[in-house]
Amino acid sequence: MKNITKICCIGAGYVGGPTMAVVAKQCPNIKVTIVDLNEARIAAWNDPDVNNIPVYEPGLSEVVAEARGRNLFFSTDVDKAIDEADMIFISVNTPTKTYGAGKGMGADLKWIELCARQIARVSKSDKIVVEKSTLPVRTAEAVKDILHNTGSGVKFQILSNPEFLAEGTAVQDLLAPDRVLIGGDDSIEGKEAIQALVDIYAQWIPLDRILTTNVWSSELSKLVANAFLAQRISSINAISELCEKTEANINEVSRAIGTDSRIGPKFLKASVGFGGSCFQKDILNLVYISRSFGLSEVADYWEQVIIMNDHQKKRFALNIVRSLYNTVSGKKIAFLGWAFKKDTNDTRESAAIYVADELLNEQASIQIYDPKVVEKQIYGDLDYLETRSAELNKSGVTVFNDPYEACNDAHAIAVLTEWDEFKDYDWKRIYDSMLKPAKIFDGRNILDHKLLKEIGFKVYGIGM
Ligand code: UDX
Ligand code: ADP
Repeated sequence: MKNITKICCIGAGYVGGPTMAVVAKQCPNIKVTIVDLNEARIAAWNDPDVNNIPVYEPGLSEVVAEARGRNLFFSTDVDKAIDEADMIFISVNTPTKTYGAGKGMGADLKWIELCARQIARVSKSDKIVVEKSTLPVRTAEAVKDILHNTGSGVKFQILSNPEFLAEGTAVQDLLAPDRVLIGGDDSIEGKEAIQALVDIYAQWIPLDRILTTNVWSSELSKLVANAFLAQRISSINAISELCEKTEANINEVSRAIGTDSRIGPKFLKASVGFGGSCFQKDILNLVYISRSFGLSEVADYWEQVIIMNDHQKKRFALNIVRSLYNTVSGKKIAFLGWAFKKDTNDTRESAAIYVADELLNEQASIQIYDPKVVEKQIYGDLDYLETRSAELNKSGVTVFNDPYEACNDAHAIAVLTEWDEFKDYDWKRIYDSMLKPAKIFDGRNILDHKLLKEIGFKVYGIGM
């Protein structure tokens, strides 16, 4: 197997963009071309001002500034990039199906299949194809099937290399990952392909952190890692509701159990519910696969993680309604945060969307501020739910560029994302501008509740 000198990545999204930018930064000897069908997205990645790239991640603009034009390129010419490359990463979206068999559960592999067919059609030399998108187990089989039946004589090796980066810390996670996972065939050619990818990562990652497995273990491990992480959040969120009924405090419980080294302190923050493009989608995949093998107990076990998360989001919204005397009709509720977590402009599956939807059903008037999410995205997220018309969403929601304006005249404030800047606001000024009694629902337990109470706020945390 020859050395890899040219890489192509199909899909310039939250995974493909940061991952390939870091590969290009760390491997100046490899030419990395990221392609996407979406012309506006590619244009934004090529914007002369690196602050305008379409994905917000701390440190990413600097990485792009360093590598772009040197060995990192963004293009819409998918065919050319495939043809040139020795190795092709598939990093397109794999959302939950919204139609037909597996609707609401299984992954929609339409875009993956299109990529495979395009690679099959364009390739004139042997290639290694790497699955980067999160895929249900045994997707590689479908990709293999398409690529091995082209009749062109070109040989393909298929690897699974799931991404474990978390948004908001992507650059750090990519530079110093806990581990890199590479799954491939046990054949000689398969092992050579695995080695080619290991050699790339080994340029900056210690070898003992690069794990190799068969393709199926690699695909399944990605789903299982996310299911375990999400399960911890649903577990602590379940206990948060119990805390609210008793004198227990969820922060104290988290600390008390997290110091047990067998449990560990991470991912025990009670919240309004987890969001993001991975957790729900991956668990639904796990549930769908289990059910399709007739494993109903396994499926039910994991589905409960999602049920608990939906409950947590709904409960948060209903708490607001209940404490505003059972009606929010016509009342102004300020939202601080719309992204699914801090330090990202990604809003996929954000708890904020579902909390807003519940409150709009109650005819609330919502005033939103998020440091990185643009107005168009917020309306798009609500319209996507198809709960009501776009006009009604527009009339029920106003988006602000200034947090103080968003909170002005509000009956209540809800904190939906844990952005650091929220902690440092002039809370006295906000209190003075609100209707009384002024209420704060801290869905992330990040504010200084003692101080807020001293100012005069009525404060509602999660699990306390
Ligand atoms: C996750 C996995 O962490 C990552 O390894 C995988 O590659 C993709 O899915 P991501 O979705 O980007 O990453 O963010 P993550 O930090 O895992 O947070 C997911 C959600 O859980 C967020 O909404 C976050 O606010 C919430 N969360 C996280 C909590 O509510 N409590 C916690 O203790 C931790
Ligand atoms: P992720 O979080 O997995 O990166 P995104 O939705 O952010 O998901 O990014 C996926 C990208 O893949 C999108 O920009 C989309 O336009 C692109 N894409 C999907 N299908 C194709 C295709 N066949 N060829 C090129 N790009 C594609």
